[in-house]
Parts: sequence; structure tokens; C-alpha cells
Amino acid sequence: MTAGAAIPHFIRLEDLSDRQVEDILDLAARLKRGVSRAELAGRSVGLLFFRGSLRTRTSLVAAVQQLGGHTVNLTAASDFWELEARDGTVMDGAAPEHIRDAAVVMSKYVSALAIRPAAVTGSWEQERRDESIRAWAAHAEVPVINMESALWHPLQALADLLTLRETLGELEGKRLAITWTSSPTPSSPSVVHSALMAALRAGMNVSVAHPPGFGLDQGVLDEARSSAGERSLSFETGIGMDEATEGAHVVYARSWFSTETYNNPTLAATKVAAARGWTIDERIMARGADARLMHSMPVRRNLEVTDEVLDGPRSLLYAQAENRLHTQKGLLSLLLRG
Ligand code: CP
Repeated sequence: MTAGAAIPHFIRLEDLSDRQVEDILDLAARLKRGVSRAELAGRSVGLLFFRGSLRTRTSLVAAVQQLGGHTVNLTAASDFWELEARDGTVMDGAAPEHIRDAAVVMSKYVSALAIRPAAVTGSWEQERRDESIRAWAAHAEVPVINMESALWHPLQALADLLTLRETLGELEGKRLAITWTSSPTPSSPSVVHSALMAALRAGMNVSVAHPPGFGLDQGVLDEARSSAGERSLSFETGIGMDEATEGAHVVYARSWFSTETYNNPTLAATKVAAARGWTIDERIMARGADARLMHSMPVRRNLEVTDEVLDGPRSLLYAQAENRLHTQKGLLSLLLRG
């Protein structure tokens, strides 16, 4: 978990050592085979959603319950109010409470806090700092788990690693193609950032396809280049879907917004509309080496990926979604052990 920190927070996958990732994946695989654990007996985990969720919410509630614990589920829009993240500010705006107070108070009730921060509204330069989740981590007295911030989705990365391992066995030297897909409501690049860094760390060669203007976060790209360089892996970005998927063992589909038009809906919609036709079909999948398809969901059928691919034998989507449950049980067991 976060190196040197007194409290082991999980904000990005890199907060875990290689050994910890291995332990979580091994335990998740055992739990998936039916081994039962009661690591959280008598303990509570707080889940705070500032944005909607189907998989993360359901799988975390189920994970905690299956480990013998309980969850306290709070949805910001209906259960509480806006929280201030900035330190030293005069709180005369909409937020009546500061995260530093809420984090300490919540820590008195639960053994861990899982947070999905609000959809972000400033410049990308500001949002990429992930100030809200970092404020929770700075002030909470219990472990904080990131349920998807602007920059990272580490819970998804754990499930993706287990799915890759189950599908390909040894990951070293295998090829992952990450490709942008068409959607009128593209998401944050968090899933792709986490998948990219996880795959390189596991020794995979990675190519990233996207239309012009949809490059990933510059800081993440710099980290990815450095990680690929250290491991002598190939890493290409900004190429077309055909090129990226050539010889790929896995194709990871996702629509992400352009950080260039962040918080400018008109310009963003124009940019997305100009990038039509980024749909994964059998022709694209056939370019790979018996390639499988991954997508963190929700997926727009016949826009991002055709029904034929989604409902065919190449799709790993349901396995990925299922693995959210098992890997989160592994993570919670490690995080809250003792
Ligand atoms: N993959 C994922 O995080 O799904 P939800 O947004 O439904 O939680």
C-alpha cells in the first residue's frame, strides 16, 4: 500500500508492491474457487458515492458481506451534502462541511472508506490532481479505497489483471491493444490509465489507438514510457485501431474524453462527432492473435463494440465484471487483515 504511509490507502495500483498484487490475485483465485473467509466479521466498510455505479457498488457490497462484514452505503446526491476539499478556504459556498472533518468522523464508525469522487468540473490540469480522493486519504484514520477518480480506477485494474492471467497465463511478452471507441458519453481515461500501467508492470507490450486529440494524460504517458523503457517493452500510442490490434492477444475497448476539450461540452461533442466509426467488430478482432476482448463496462452495443463480438467467444466482459468481486475480496482481506 502507499509506501511509508501509516495507513495503507489504495488510490492507485502502484500503492501495492508486486508481492501484494500477487497475494491479492492468488487469494482472489482461491476465493473464486469457493474458499471462504470471514476476515471482516463484525466490521463495517463505508461506501461513499458522489457518482453513480452499477458494478463497483454491487460488487463491493457483496464482497464485504461475503467476508462477514457490513457496508454503510451513502449516495451524495440523496444522503448528505457537498463537501469542501480545498484547505484554508472560507467556506461560504455550497459545501457546508469539509472533507477533513467528514473523513475523521467517518473513521470513527468504519474500518475502511471507499470513495467514488464527484464528476469533475475544473480544468484537466486541476482534475488530474485527484484532490478529493487525496483529501480523504490525507485525513481519514482508516484505509481509503479509490472507487474511480479522474485519473485512476485501481479496483478495475486488479480485476483486469486476474482476467488477463486466467486468459493468457503468463503475461510477460504478450500484446495488449487498448483502443478508443465511439460514444456520445465518453468516460474519464481512468480505466485505461490503470490498465495501461498494470499491463506494462506485468511485462506486456502495449499499443494505444485513438483519434487525433484523444491522447491520454501526459503525466501517465510519461510514466508509461518510463515503465516500458525499464522493462524493454514496446509501447506505442496515437496510432489507428487496425495498426494497434495487429497481433494483439487482448483488445481493451474504452471510450474516453479528450483532455484537450475538458469542461467545454460544445467543443467536446464536436470532437467526438468527428471521430465516428471507432467500433470494434469481427474484422478488427480477427487482426489479433486469437484475440480476446476486454471492456470495463458499461458498454454501448453496436457503437463501441458489435453484438457479434460482445456475445461471441472472444468476449471477456462478464469475466472481468465477475472478477471485481473476487479481487475486491482479496484486497479487503489484505488491507484489513488483523
Ligand atoms: N467498471 C465500473 O467501474 O463499473 P461501474 O461504473 O458500474 O461501477
